[in-house]
Amino acid sequence: MEPIKVLVINSDNGVRALLGQMLTALVIITTARGAVTSTDDAARYGAFDLVSEPFNGKELGQILRTAYKQRLRRRQGQKLQAALGAHDPFPEIVGKSPGIKRVLALIHKAAPTNSSVLIQGESGTGKELVARALHRMSPRAQSPLTVVDCGALQDTLLETELFGHERGAFTGAHALKHGLFETADNGTLFLDEIGEMSPATQVKVLRALQSGEFRRIGSNRPIKTDVRIVAATNKDLREEVKRGRFREDLYYRFAVIEISIPPLRERKEDISLLVEHFLRANENGQRLRMTKEALNCLLAYAWPGNIRELRNTIERLAVLADGEVITIESLPRGIVNFSQPETPAEMPRDLPLYEVERLYILRTLKLYRGNKRKVAAVLGIDTKTLYNKLRRYGVFNPSAKA
Ligand SMILES: Nc1ncnc2c1ncn2[C@@H]1O[C@H](COP(=O)(O)OP(=O)(O)OP(=O)(O)O)[C@@H](O)[C@H]1O
Ligand SMILES: [Mg+2]
Repeated sequence: MEPIKVLVINSDNGVRALLGQMLTALVIITTARGAVTSTDDAARYGAFDLVSEPFNGKELGQILRTAYKQRLRRRQGQKLQAALGAHDPFPEIVGKSPGIKRVLALIHKAAPTNSSVLIQGESGTGKELVARALHRMSPRAQSPLTVVDCGALQDTLLETELFGHERGAFTGAHALKHGLFETADNGTLFLDEIGEMSPATQVKVLRALQSGEFRRIGSNRPIKTDVRIVAATNKDLREEVKRGRFREDLYYRFAVIEISIPPLRERKEDISLLVEHFLRANENGQRLRMTKEALNCLLAYAWPGNIRELRNTIERLAVLADGEVITIESLPRGIVNFSQPETPAEMPRDLPLYEVERLYILRTLKLYRGNKRKVAAVLGIDTKTLYNKLRRYGVFNPSAKA
């Protein structure tokens, strides 16, 4: 294990000068004053912890021991991960929540069979990822996985795609077209967004699945096909059946095995793992990490776009990151504001504008229990501006009551 370096620095200029050398080192900055005032600040400079002066050997020793243990654990974790990697059949599906474990167990059971699988889940929960894992772990893995987005194609186009057509079957059918039921033979046919399929197409698909054969448009000759069906939808298909919008017999054809992927807001324990996963995937030669405060914001958010939204957010943060640490200020406003517990109380009437601003800032500060970094992020100003304003208001203890 590489040695733990300790840098003892007592001026912020010194910190900046040494930044270049610090990237791989475990650093402890000591500072009596200046811009580095909290552990989060120190983390921005790549430091493990912050020790205020005067400090004693015991305190430093304790920090070193914690740092050493943390590094040891990380190293052991990496080794374990590498060992598991060889046996983990679905390394691309990240998560440890009971919900995702149930999904993984079902994939395990369903993959080796020929049964149809219906995957249900909100947008961005990983339905396609699960469909691909099912195919990859199936005896059909050597044949192609064919994806059809039933929501993206108009009725007749979808039928032409699925069943193909003979030459001259209709105006514009200049050549024979093989349907996907034909080309996917021996493989898996992934019918995505089946909730969007029209009643007419539903009948034709049902017939093909029941008989194991279909006819090209413009032909009476039945063609045998051996496809394994995996279907997905972000609708509640049972509800669609109840409302008469989806055929019950087709629903049962699809839903021999049902896999429901829970939304991200119901498996918050997966968020930090996913953040780590996406940060790693985005490394452009730099190691990115996130402060606890920023991660807490992500944990509090509801993620209506689920994992896709989380992945896109992290991707954007990684591209825009200035240093190697992602702090609360870099998070999108919508996410930071989401965790806002309440709004500052209504303003008294007839106040001059500067007084409105002063009151609002002080009340927001109170709301966030004096957390200047969060307040600055919520108000869309930088921390320095906030400090300047507080100084102007004569607030020496900024967490004081407004
Ligand atoms: N458990 C997971 N671990 C890692 N990445 C995931 C996980 N689930 C989803 N993703 C990623 O999130 C993104 C969205 O996943 P996917 O396209 O499979 O979702 P979907 O349910 O099909 O979405 P939509 O309903 O919008 O079609 C993809 O980039 C996928 O790789
Ligand atoms: Mg999808």
